Amino acid sequence: LRDGPLKGRRILITSGPTHEPIDPVRYIANRSSGAQGTAIARALIALGAEVIFVTGPADAPPPDGAELHRVETAHQMLDACHKVLPVDAAICAAAVADWRVASASSSKMKKDKGGLPKLELAENPDILATLSQLADQRPALVVGFAAETDDVAQNATAKRLRKGCDWIVANDVSPHTGIMGGTENEVTLITAAGAEPWPRMSKGQVAARLATRIAEALVPDAAP
Ligand code: C5P
Repeated sequence: LRDGPLKGRRILITSGPTHEPIDPVRYIANRSSGAQGTAIARALIALGAEVIFVTGPADAPPPDGAELHRVETAHQMLDACHKVLPVDAAICAAAVADWRVASASSSKMKKDKGGLPKLELAENPDILATLSQLADQRPALVVGFAAETDDVAQNATAKRLRKGCDWIVANDVSPHTGIMGGTENEVTLITAAGAEPWPRMSKGQVAARLATRIAEALVPDAAP
């Protein structure tokens, strides 16, 4: 482990998409690449943190130097998070599937059976809200993300209260911003103190600045 202001601090990061099985060969997923979570993990490791990286099946290679937990489903992701507690901070960057198939088929569904399959969905657990509202072992700092297309600060402020987390990193993912799938990001950090717009910068710079803020919050006297 590296030296740095976060030396000795355990930080959990969720990242990537989740895959929710329909049958043994099919699943419901989303397009999350895991890039944002991975960049934040690297930035925290660079500040000396012990990073526990719980990731769904993502394209991005996982960060070097993290304790890696690979999962598929939202339920597995939540279980993995529970198992690694206690942590000093939790950063929920995963794009968790909102729904799973209520009862996935244990054998491959056949189209030559005739008719169309009816997929009944069930709601997945909200990992960010669960970690934020833990009665025991709540991390000192819980951070979530919000991708919005309008009224970004207002919607993200409401989300912060609804989930019970400490901070929300909000961004505008409207197509005209070029942020989704691009290399730059323009975020607003929502805390109890209000909304703090950050200038547009690379996603790596957003990760570094967020890691610095996390260090200041967890280790108040470690300021350089
Ligand atoms: O509600 P929404 O999906 O917009 O919230 C996004 C935030 O909540 C992200 O930080 C995401 O990682 C987290 N989340 C979660 N579990 C879910 C849904 C979202 O941890 N089931």
